[in-house]
Amino acid sequence: MDARNGDSATTPRRRPSRLGKLPGRQDWSSWPHYQAAASGFRGYWYPVGYSSRFGSKPKQITLLGRKIVLIRDGGRVYALKDRCPHRGVPLSEGNQQFPGTISCPYHGWTFDLESGELKAAITDGPHSPICGKVVQPTYDVAERLGMVWVFVGDGEQAPPIDEQLPEELVGNAAVVGSRIQPREGNWRFACENGYDEGHAKYLHRTSLWRLFKPMPVWNETRIIQRGRWIYRVQEKQYWDADFPGLGRWSSQAWYKMKPPSKVGNIGNTSTHREVNPVIAAQEFPGFASVSMPGVLRIVYPTFIHYEFYVPVDNDNHLYVGVMASFDRGIRTIPFYLKYLGFVRWLFHGQFSAQDKWMVEVTDAPPEKLYRPDDSLLKWRKLAEDTCEERAERLRGEGIEPAAAPTEN
Ligand code: FES
Ligand code: FE
Repeated sequence: MDARNGDSATTPRRRPSRLGKLPGRQDWSSWPHYQAAASGFRGYWYPVGYSSRFGSKPKQITLLGRKIVLIRDGGRVYALKDRCPHRGVPLSEGNQQFPGTISCPYHGWTFDLESGELKAAITDGPHSPICGKVVQPTYDVAERLGMVWVFVGDGEQAPPIDEQLPEELVGNAAVVGSRIQPREGNWRFACENGYDEGHAKYLHRTSLWRLFKPMPVWNETRIIQRGRWIYRVQEKQYWDADFPGLGRWSSQAWYKMKPPSKVGNIGNTSTHREVNPVIAAQEFPGFASVSMPGVLRIVYPTFIHYEFYVPVDNDNHLYVGVMASFDRGIRTIPFYLKYLGFVRWLFHGQFSAQDKWMVEVTDAPPEKLYRPDDSLLKWRKLAEDTCEERAERLRGEGIEPAAAPTEN
């Protein structure tokens, strides 16, 4: 089931890029791939909208700075570059004249959806010599979790999407509730906000979602890598603290629950509730983890929350929040009721709006990092290392990866 709201990737609002404006300012040159990835990393599948939004009427999305037309034919969604090679008109303004094709609205150039081949130029008759000489770039498309996913690469074979999805979502039946929202701000700010060790305890202490739940003041945290994910492992949590010369500070209050004692645990972190057996079986080292190309996983005792930060262009991203429950049968009903009744509004809504606000107003680099930002440094390193590995792999296949995503 998908609880629907919001939109798929839409034509973005433009505003001047805030990155690297002034020479000599501190920048992200220690992570050159990361610094160059303002409009996203190539070589990955990205969710672009709910499956139900893509039908036989062509629809334009923007992904990694490129305009792409999506259309469903025979139950399957196809994706092509959304610029007619004849005179540059968007194919998404056109429609379908023959099964398995899309026709440009201007002069009727007609492209095969699967191969991108120009099959007909209607206004030049059935034997137009241009046919067979033009191929429109296409993109691989998949559907998972009730959404359409598009692969953007450098010409390599797209890996199976299941290799990129969180492992537990592939190997187990899950019911999901989700929210998709176009947001302002670079996708890296959104991802860094998601994985940032420091902010939740302070920024979200006022959220309704945390109204009755205590937040620590600070944590001792270690970042470890397992497979393609890095995890925040909480070594120690401090629920109140004395700040010399200032006084005691805590976000606890009489109406909040007490800090969890060991009912269950995720990694080193105690939980208020027993952990669902499917979640427990994953043996996550920590409750917060991140992987390429910007996927956040927050593990709760009875569900897992994911955030996919989809690069639209340098200054806009698509927020895709997914909540998954691994309960089966009759036990899925409380999950739906809970999700639609309040989680969707409190967590994917008001709580997440605080993150949206911070991502919109973040202006880095320059930046001056502090101890909890080890989480950001490890994420950037993961991105950098993964990019290097991919570049090496592609070169082995005779493909030179583009230094930075470019408009195709
Ligand atoms: Fe597309 Fe002429 S611009 S057919
Ligand atoms: Fe947050």
